[in-house]
Amino acid sequence: MRQIIDPRTIDFSAWHGGISTTEEERGEWNNMYSAERTRSLNGYLDRPCDGEIKYLLPFMRQIQGPSLELASGAMRIMMQLALHGYEVHGIEGSPHMIELGQKKIATLPPEVQRRIHVIQGDMRDFSLGRTFGLIMIPFDSLWHNLNEIGAEQCIMAILKHLAPGGIFLIDTPKFDEKAYWWETIKEKFGLALRTETCTHGPFHQAEMLVGSKKTK
Ligand SMILES: C[S@@+](CC[C@H](N)C(=O)[O-])C[C@H]1O[C@@H](n2cnc3c(N)ncnc32)[C@H](O)[C@@H]1O
Repeated sequence: MRQIIDPRTIDFSAWHGGISTTEEERGEWNNMYSAERTRSLNGYLDRPCDGEIKYLLPFMRQIQGPSLELASGAMRIMMQLALHGYEVHGIEGSPHMIELGQKKIATLPPEVQRRIHVIQGDMRDFSLGRTFGLIMIPFDSLWHNLNEIGAEQCIMAILKHLAPGGIFLIDTPKFDEKAYWWETIKEKFGLALRTETCTHGPFHQAEMLVGSKKTK
């Protein structure tokens, strides 16, 4: 039986999390999700995503072609979307998280495995040479280890990969705290933004930012 860890019971004292502000700290994100640091968190990182999937499926139905998930972790969401028949692409920084995900997808039928494509990379700086109708950052990962400079780089990378009429979704519980920053980003890049509630599962609800490029 799957063990579900209540995040409220996790001891985060050894956790490196937080927003990095220096180059040195930014280099650290690759280690944040190392085997050693994630061992006690696997149940949390692998938490059920029924609520998120229910929220995402109508978006998946709307788009042509695959979606792209940034900071795709151990492929928790990608696996479920692939099981629903969708092709999914992901970018993930931690080799350990990719390895955890690969172990899980190896147990899926070959046709489902073939729908999942992950590369190791940095969500602030990647170039896939193609666009997507839906790009998402679930599980509060935009601010997990980035400062405003890094977050803006990430938004620029998203916009570079967004198909005409495409949508991006960012799970962002800190929306109110960062409302001033989103306002600047909205103006700077000509975006339409709104927030919606997405029920995650047993523990909490998230504020989901739904964004797109404004049409002229
Ligand atoms: C909370 S986990 C979320 C994983 C997955 N999206 C999910 O919903 O289960 C955050 C992930 O972000 C990854 N990450 C952090 N900074 C990153 C960056 N700059 N580029 C790519 N991945 C990054 C971490 O390695 C980790 O796997």
